[in-house]
Amino acid sequence: MASLAAIKFSALKQNTRFLSDNFLSSVLKVVAISGLCLYLVYLAFFNYSNCPSSKFFSTLNPKQIPTDAGKRADSHANPNFQESPTNISHLVFGLVSAVKTWKDRKPYIDAWWQPNITRGYLILDKPPTPDFLPWPSSSPPLRVSDDTSKLERESKHVSPIMVRMVHSILETFREGDKGVRWYVMAFDDSVLFVENWVDVLNKYDHTKYFYIGDYSETVLSNLFFSFDQGFGGAGIALSYPLAAAMVKDLKGCIRRYPFVKSADTIIQFCVDEFGVPLTVEKGIHQIDLVGDISGFLSSHPQAPLLSLHHLDFVNPIFPSMDKFQSAAHLMKAAKSDQSRLLQQTICYHRPRNWSFSISWGYSVHIYERIHPRSLLKRPLETFRPWLRNAKPPMFMFNTRWPCETPSVFFFESTEKALRNQIVTNYARSASPGYPNCFWKGNGSTNHIARIQVYSSATKRKEIERSECCDIIRADGASIAEVKLRACKDDEIIA
Ligand SMILES: *[C@@H]1O[C@H](CO)[C@@H](O)[C@H](O)[C@H]1NC(C)=O
Ligand SMILES: *[C@@H]1O[C@H](CO)[C@@H](O)[C@H](O)[C@H]1NC(C)=O
Ligand SMILES: *[C@@H]1O[C@H](CO)[C@@H](O)[C@H](O)[C@H]1NC(C)=O
Ligand SMILES: *[C@@H]1O[C@H](CO)[C@@H](O)[C@H](O)[C@H]1NC(C)=O
Repeated sequence: MASLAAIKFSALKQNTRFLSDNFLSSVLKVVAISGLCLYLVYLAFFNYSNCPSSKFFSTLNPKQIPTDAGKRADSHANPNFQESPTNISHLVFGLVSAVKTWKDRKPYIDAWWQPNITRGYLILDKPPTPDFLPWPSSSPPLRVSDDTSKLERESKHVSPIMVRMVHSILETFREGDKGVRWYVMAFDDSVLFVENWVDVLNKYDHTKYFYIGDYSETVLSNLFFSFDQGFGGAGIALSYPLAAAMVKDLKGCIRRYPFVKSADTIIQFCVDEFGVPLTVEKGIHQIDLVGDISGFLSSHPQAPLLSLHHLDFVNPIFPSMDKFQSAAHLMKAAKSDQSRLLQQTICYHRPRNWSFSISWGYSVHIYERIHPRSLLKRPLETFRPWLRNAKPPMFMFNTRWPCETPSVFFFESTEKALRNQIVTNYARSASPGYPNCFWKGNGSTNHIARIQVYSSATKRKEIERSECCDIIRADGASIAEVKLRACKDDEIIA
C-alpha cells in the first residue's frame, strides 16, 4: 500500500463516500430523530394498519428528479433523429483504472468485455509495470492518463485525483472513434451488462444532450454529494453531442470547481452548465452497500440491470463461490437472457399458501405464507449501509427486515428447453444467517431441493409491466417447476 497510486485510489474511495466526519455526525443527529419515526412507520406497515406518521414520512422523501424528459418515444419531432436502432458499436466505454488495482479488477472487466466487439479504453494512472505486458487483446485497449499535475496545481484542486477522473472523459473522446452515439464512463470494479445498456440507450435520442446515471443506494452519499448526480463508479452515459460540448472546455470546468471533492459531482456540475439534468436509470448500481447484498439483488427494481459496482466490498453474491467466480457465474445467466436478468416475478401456490419470488438468473425465494407483491418487492435487508453507524433513513428504497426467513435457492445453470424456452435451475442454499422470528414458516417446503424456472427464449422488450408466473409443480417432488409468461390484460397478482 506504499505506492502513490494506492494512496490516491484509497483517497478516491474515501472521497466518494463522504465529506467529513464532523458533517456526518451532525447529519446523523438529525436523521436519528427521523429514524425513530421510520421505525414506527415500519412496524405500522407490518400490522397493515394506517400510520398517523405516514404524512411525516412522505415529507422525508428525497426530491423527485425528472427521469423521463425527452425519451426516444417523445422525440420524433427532432428532424435530426436517426431511426437506425442503437447497437453495441455505437457505444464507447471509458474505464478508469489504476496500476495498483488493475490486477484485482481485471476479472470483473473480463466477465463482460467482448474483445473486438465492445469499443473503449482502459485508462491507467501510469504506464503498466512489466508484469502486465504484453497487454492482452482480450482486455480493453490500454491508455495511460495524461499528466494533469499542472491543472491540479493551477486550479489548487482540493482533490487532485479527481482531476484525472474528470479528464478521462476528454481522453476517451479524443480517441476520435467514428459513429459514436454514447460514451459510457465507469470504473474498473464494475460489471456492466452491455446488451441492456444498448437497449436502454436506444430509448433516448442520442442527437440530444443526455446525462444518464443513477443515485447511490445510500441516502447519505446522495445528501453529501448530490441528488442530481450519477455515481460514476457504476457508470454514467453521456450522449455524443453532450460529451463533444463538454470537452471543448473541460479544463475550464475543472478550474471552476476546485473545491468539489468528488469527480462525479464535478462532472455533474460541468453537465449542468449546459442546462442538462440527470436522467435516472434504475438498473445502474453503485452498490454503496456492504455485507450480503442477496436481499437487494433478489428484489431488483423493475428496470434492466445495467451495472454492479463495488463487488469487492460486498460478500460474494453467490455464497458458494468467491467474488470473481460469482461475477462470471452471473454472466452465464446474462448470456442466455440479459433482458430478464434479476427481473423479479412473483406468484403464489394457493393450495399451500406459499409465495414464490424469482429473481431471474439469480435466486428464488419461497415463503410459507402469502405476502403481497408490494411487500416482496422490498429488498430483504440482508446488507448494511456503506457507513457502519448510519441511522435511518439509510437507503433510497424501502427494505424488509430479513427475519422472514424464506427458503433460498441460487442460480446454478441454464439450458435451452423445448418450445423456444430457456430453463434456469436454482439449488437450495443454506438459509443465510437470518434471525428466526415468528414469521418463519414451519418447514413445509423443506422437500424442495431445486427449482426449475421456464421462461421464453425471446428477449423481453417491454419492462413497463413485470411478467407473471404459474407454479407447475411444488408438492411431493424434490424439484419444483415454475413457468414465466406474459401477464394477461387484467390479471391481478395477488
Ligand atoms: C450498428 O448499426 C449501424 C448503423 O447505424 C450498422 O452500420 C452496423 O453494422 C451495426 N453494427 C452492429 C454490430 O450491429
Ligand atoms: C482482435 O482483433 C485483432 C486484430 O484484428 C486480432 O489480432 C486479435 O486476435 C483479436 N482479439 C481477440 C481476442 O479476438
Ligand atoms: C390458506 O389461507 C387461507 C386464508 O387465510 C386459509 O383459509 C386456508 O386454510 C389456508 N390454507 C392452508 C393450506 O394453510
Ligand atoms: C405447515 O402449515 C401448513 C398450514 O399452516 C400445514 O398445512 C402443514 O401441514 C404444516 N406442515 C408441517 C410440516 O408442519
